[in-house]
Amino acid sequence: MRRTIGVSADPHPNRVGTHYAATVDLSPTHSPEAKLARRDAVLAAVTRASERLSEPQPWATLVDEALRILGEATRVSRVYVFEVDHREGVECVSQRFEWCAPGVTAQIDNPGLQGVPLEAAGYVRWSELLRAGEPVFGDIEDFPESERPLLELQEIRSILVQPIFEGSRWWGFMGFDACDAVQSWERAEVDTLRIAALLLGAAIHRQTRESQMREVQKLEALGRMASSVAHDFNNVLMVIAGATELLKGELEATDARHLAEGPHAVMIDQALERASTLTRRLLEFSRRRTGRPQVVCPLELLRREEPLLRQAVGPRVQLRIFQGGDGRPIAPVRIEPTEFAQVVLNLAVNARDAMPTGGELIFDVSTVDASDSPASFDLMTEGRWTLLRVADCGDGMSPEVLAHAFEPFYTTKGRDRGTGLGLSTVQGIVTAAGGHIRVSSTVGRGTEFRVYLPAAIEPA
Ligand SMILES: Nc1ncnc2c1ncn2[C@@H]1O[C@H](COP(=O)(O)OP(=O)(O)OP(=O)(O)O)[C@@H](O)[C@H]1O
Ligand SMILES: [Mg+2]
Repeated sequence: MRRTIGVSADPHPNRVGTHYAATVDLSPTHSPEAKLARRDAVLAAVTRASERLSEPQPWATLVDEALRILGEATRVSRVYVFEVDHREGVECVSQRFEWCAPGVTAQIDNPGLQGVPLEAAGYVRWSELLRAGEPVFGDIEDFPESERPLLELQEIRSILVQPIFEGSRWWGFMGFDACDAVQSWERAEVDTLRIAALLLGAAIHRQTRESQMREVQKLEALGRMASSVAHDFNNVLMVIAGATELLKGELEATDARHLAEGPHAVMIDQALERASTLTRRLLEFSRRRTGRPQVVCPLELLRREEPLLRQAVGPRVQLRIFQGGDGRPIAPVRIEPTEFAQVVLNLAVNARDAMPTGGELIFDVSTVDASDSPASFDLMTEGRWTLLRVADCGDGMSPEVLAHAFEPFYTTKGRDRGTGLGLSTVQGIVTAAGGHIRVSSTVGRGTEFRVYLPAAIEPA
């Protein structure tokens, strides 16, 4: 039931009069002409906001202006954008941008609007509607009890919240608060403002794509450089290794033969070993292709690699390889088998390092439809994917480590243990095979990598 509110005593005398007076126009008792004029104004504002958002600048620099245009046309108290983020595996939302009408208390610095776990905070309904692409709107008085306290704290009397999608991924929402009077949201207006949220989503999506492209180009350039450096470096190493052997031989023939196996000789050998590992990793990272992609079953490949994987993870780690999912046949994928082996070996070694006292490492292969679980399929096209899940129960990664884990040369293992090229090599191989890699991790609990490879042929 919607109340009709006219101008009554201003409950917030510090608010600027013009804004308060403006809200009078919102009253649903107003004439059809006034309603029509308002609808036109909103439509014009959405058009102007969309022009702003399509400018070739980072969307984050355009959004404030777009919110102002929308706020002034709708004559609400606040227009804002929230982004979905994950904190320790829990889906939360945080306010990122805000426009406020003059005199209205801004909420952008309100710590209560950062990292709000929607479900735990009593907003399951919102989360379900928004995720399904539906708006949430109405008079706060008509909202369920659980939703009111947080909204009332911000003095909101009626609200419209529109979901923002980046591609097929629910990215966040755009909200409109009316604090002075109850705004009656007409369907036409709700639909028009939906377009504003869609356009913002499109702007975000465009830029994510562009920055991903730039990232790929950067990595390719780095790969080319790594490959040429590794090649030259390898030649230098061969000379050092050869000369060291000769020198040892010469020492053997003298009174100082003990030096040929002395601590300095051992140090040289260890350094050579380390340097040759490094060049091998660099060459793997730059993906000098050794063979052609083939249509293969990942589960069969995994089983073939099992002895090598067992050896790599050592006796303390229990390795389990199995077919998971709903038991439907595994769709084959197109990948170069030695590159696939490199992917699983790198992931296995990382898991081993994360479980120094041992534990369980799972390789689980299944075939899934993109439409089965839209949440993990952001940016993926429809169709069938073969999913390789690699899960350990090790140390896990902090958000900081997680944010850098795939960067080339990023390592937390110290200079002489890790090169930091493992995961970037994995990502390079998976991307080249048309796949995607996702990771979730909790400190102290473990890490799960999900490698999605497009099905090469539909299984019978
Ligand atoms: N399964 C995992 N559990 C916890 N942390 C991980 C896991 N996998 C990767 N990491 C983190 O990501 C970082 C980067 O991993 P990456 O494989 O790229 O390099 P690295 O393992 O440090 O070095 P290299 O692979 O050359 O031995 C690691 O240093 C580690 O901090
Ligand atoms: Mg590694």
